[in-house]
Amino acid sequence: MRVEERLGLARLAVAVWLLLLWGGCEGRFVVQKNSLKVTSPNSMKGAHECAIGNFGVPQYGGTLVGTVVYPSANQHACKEFREFDLSFKTKPGGLPVFVLADRGDCYFTLKAWNAQNGGAAAILVADDREEPLITMDVPEEQKADADYLEKITIPSALIRKNLGDSIKKALSGGNMVNLNLDWTEALPHPDERVEYEFWTNSNDECGPKCDGQIDFVKNFKGAAQILEQKGYTQFTPHYITWFCPEAFLLSKQCKSQCINHGRYCAPDPEQDFSRGYDGKDVVVQNLRQACFFKVANESGKPWLWWDYVADFSIRCPMKEKKYTKECAEQVIKSLGVDLKKIDECIGNPDADENNPVLKAEQEAQIGKGARGDVTILPTLVINNGQYRGKLDRIAVLKAICSGFQETTEPAICLSQEIETNECLENYGGCWQDETANISACRDTFRGRVCECPTVQNVKFVGDGYTHCEASGALRCEINNGGCWKESRNGKTYSACIDDHTKGCKCPHGFRGDGVNSCDDVDECKEKLACQCPECKCKDVWGSYECSCSGGLLYMQEHDMCINKNTRTEYSWGFIWTIILGLAAAGVAGYAVYKYRIRRYMDSEIRAIMAQYMPLDNQGEIPSHTHASRGSV
Ligand SMILES: *[C@@H]1O[C@H](CO)[C@@H](O)[C@H](O)[C@H]1NC(C)=O
Ligand SMILES: *[C@@H]1O[C@H](CO)[C@@H](O)[C@H](O)[C@H]1NC(C)=O
Repeated sequence: MRVEERLGLARLAVAVWLLLLWGGCEGRFVVQKNSLKVTSPNSMKGAHECAIGNFGVPQYGGTLVGTVVYPSANQHACKEFREFDLSFKTKPGGLPVFVLADRGDCYFTLKAWNAQNGGAAAILVADDREEPLITMDVPEEQKADADYLEKITIPSALIRKNLGDSIKKALSGGNMVNLNLDWTEALPHPDERVEYEFWTNSNDECGPKCDGQIDFVKNFKGAAQILEQKGYTQFTPHYITWFCPEAFLLSKQCKSQCINHGRYCAPDPEQDFSRGYDGKDVVVQNLRQACFFKVANESGKPWLWWDYVADFSIRCPMKEKKYTKECAEQVIKSLGVDLKKIDECIGNPDADENNPVLKAEQEAQIGKGARGDVTILPTLVINNGQYRGKLDRIAVLKAICSGFQETTEPAICLSQEIETNECLENYGGCWQDETANISACRDTFRGRVCECPTVQNVKFVGDGYTHCEASGALRCEINNGGCWKESRNGKTYSACIDDHTKGCKCPHGFRGDGVNSCDDVDECKEKLACQCPECKCKDVWGSYECSCSGGLLYMQEHDMCINKNTRTEYSWGFIWTIILGLAAAGVAGYAVYKYRIRRYMDSEIRAIMAQYMPLDNQGEIPSHTHASRGSV
């Protein structure tokens, strides 16, 4: 054990209590398991568990499909596959290759790096003993040749020995073994807000892990702040501390590594008590970061934490001996956060008392439910599930995005940089209209979806796969609503009508499906118009022309020819008739009047005369008189 040799006896004791603590935690450490589905051969079909490695780029929210290759040589993948003339590059039309490697002989990370360089899309490491799955992690040693760690982009998964054995057996029997590595359900409880925790450390001298952590904070800061400001996420930073066992309270080690009388400890950054910063310096800076978050959160700006941590790592690095209170306070002031409140929160590190913030952190360290204890630094916990994989901005963003229920994800999750680009090829198989350059394909971080689009405020409706059509007002504005339209000799006809909610209809004078074609109807040939004896019919595009022989006029609405003059003569004749009629009536009336007067005078005269001389028909006279008087 190299560490102990270097550190000497005194440190051995500390190492032992640390190991004891770690050992005690191991039972509660939850290995993040993912589903690995074997899709062929039939005899092996089914879901298995695998443990995603804590490096490489996982595909949270997505699935990776591939075929397994167990290399004929270099089966531990500890050497470059090039040396064995092996390549796993995907051939056109072929499935991506998952290299199956055996556990042992070298770091998991080196195996992944070699597989990646060999062209593999993922690496499966078969355990070399029967045991529960473990999480493959990055080596702790600060080795110079570890720069490749940052460059691992393929995902990795550890599988149980028996699954590895059956895959090997199937392959050697000439079977093709195809798998789905599935991250779609890796993070639980998707809803409209994602809660995530980042377990981190202000220490910047712990090798690749610290470097990766700082790079992550700098790269992820922007996205984290947008998500937090818009209320899509609730982020909390966390810091791990240990306590010093009572027997060691007065030891030099606990004094240099702990604050508040052994209550909160962190390992010495250089693992050397005699130089550089001590563990307790790290604890205090961690506490300052935790307090910064608390104060910033209370003032409603939790996202300032990202600025503080990024700025602190740039402005106050250990390497430049600036990892100090003064430097930290300058950064805090520059961000406009209340320094006094932070000082109050830190309290007195030498006092024999609890610090409420660190006490809460120690309690949070212990796993709750599905999460398990946090023992690896840095660790990202999303929706109470531990993220496994490289802390890469896009990979983490995908993981956070997969914690949202579909359709509730924020715009940043649908942005181009984390999408799958499946629409670039053949519009992802979705509906498309190439002439109008419209497609139903939409890339998302979950893969492509086929949804009818909304273009220039015009909503397309349909199943998205075979059919989408513009609907509502304005729909004819876009590609003429998908309907037929043609112009000839300055005339334009269209089969799209804006007030129709959908569909195409050939205009009057045309016949057809309205989508691909509308054909001119020959009204003359089909005897649809202009059929009167004097009519002469001529078909034109979209209509017809009708002329009448013999100086007659064609009246389209009646589809008949009429004499241009008839109409006026008739009306004059009519007027004359009325005038003459009126005159005749007047004359007739006058004649009747005259006749009546005469008859009246006659009867009057006869009545007078009757008073003086008896007349023959006496009986008639009174009634006659009476009647004649009454009527005129
Ligand atoms: C941050 O503030 C929010 C709302 O004010 C609160 O719900 C949350 O618990 C706070 N987080 C911490 C870690 O104090
Ligand atoms: C189609 O539209 C996309 C963006 O919507 C654009 O990038 C592409 O150049 C367009 N293609 C054509 C042929 O207009």
